[in-house]
Amino acid sequence: MSLQGKHIVLGISGSIAAYKSASLARLLIKKGAEVKIVITPAGKQFITPITMSALTGNPVESDFFSSNDGSWHSHVDMGMWADLMVVAPATASTIGKMAHGIADNLLVTTYLSMKSPVFLAPSMDLDMFKHPSTQRNLDILKKDGVHIIDATSGELASHLEGKGRMEEPENIVKKLEEYFQISFSLNTKKILITAGPTYERIDPVRFIGNFSSGKMGFALAEECASRGAEVILVCGPTPLSISNKLIRRIDVESAQQMYEVCLKVFPEVDAAILSAAVADYRPEHTYGQKMKRSDHENLTITLTPNPDIAAALGKIKKPNQLLVGFALETNDEDKNALSKMEKKNFDFIILNSLNEEGAGFGLDTNKITIFSRNGNKKSFELKLKKELAKDILNHVFG
Ligand code: PMT
Repeated sequence: MSLQGKHIVLGISGSIAAYKSASLARLLIKKGAEVKIVITPAGKQFITPITMSALTGNPVESDFFSSNDGSWHSHVDMGMWADLMVVAPATASTIGKMAHGIADNLLVTTYLSMKSPVFLAPSMDLDMFKHPSTQRNLDILKKDGVHIIDATSGELASHLEGKGRMEEPENIVKKLEEYFQISFSLNTKKILITAGPTYERIDPVRFIGNFSSGKMGFALAEECASRGAEVILVCGPTPLSISNKLIRRIDVESAQQMYEVCLKVFPEVDAAILSAAVADYRPEHTYGQKMKRSDHENLTITLTPNPDIAAALGKIKKPNQLLVGFALETNDEDKNALSKMEKKNFDFIILNSLNEEGAGFGLDTNKITIFSRNGNKKSFELKLKKELAKDILNHVFG
């Protein structure tokens, strides 16, 4: 998928590299994109709105209100219009304001209203770039899901040599094209995702559960949807919420309920990714009333096996369907993961180990290894679950 027909908001802040924004806008338009500019007051010192509006054929937005008639320039409308926002050049000041939500200019308010992915290309002097404060702000933005187009090294406006130059417009355009290529590769796909824990009731107030938060599965669901897939997200109890309209969420409580929904939905999907931590057992008997301590000297709860959702889907999987499982292990990690892939007829299994710091339940990060049926094994460094969701989809569908 090219940039043809894409709506792109180009944010320009006050750096000498602003002269390159003119080429960037031109290149984007040549590729078929429509470009709207939002520029900071400092940005206007470096390149004029007249130049940018002549190049893009659209008025350039900079002030909150028109000085002619007081009408409001809506950053909200721009957020809804855009398929993507790229801030190039992004100065240390703009990066800091974006990271901390300091909405004192139209560029930052537009960023805060943006519903689409945001890219930024830093541009500044080398010492400013490597300053812990700038790096901290870039890390915050990365965690917020902003794509950073790394600065390059070379001669800077100060005539010093070092890292801080804005990436060349041609390379920025390439990165945006790549993004749309990957992004939309799931356009016609329907994907089932399981997420979160299951709760197995003992009585009306107690259950057997586990520490899964649903974060891994929700990150996968959001990433699939942002690539255009229709997602059915079957999740156990979790306070997480979803934002993409392409995701149909079905809440369940127990493994049995998750099993029933998954079995019904699976025949209509192209792929299923099973990240839920499903309880393998449930109490044989669920008490109708709250159990009293005084009624039991010692208490034994007999457990009975739950259905294995993954194995059941593995049995009915058609050749054109993909089945991807997870394995959460504490020992003999590779061996156990490979044996689960075999038993449950997965095409891929994603191993995460509780022995790895920062991996597994509850956290925003995870560390995974993906095994495929054809014998491939690929490990990924410790990353945000949101980032790993991208790696997983690139690997499985790429
Ligand atoms: O939710 P988070 O806090 O973000 O944590 C993410 C996670 C650690 C829960 C996730 O990354 C993960 O590892 N999920 C699978 C956990 C697990 O139950 O693994 P397992 O090895 O017991 O199960 C193997 C596979 O079979 C899994 O795909 C599981 O969803 C599936 N299964 C298991 C039992 C069962 N009765 N039915 C199943 O479908």
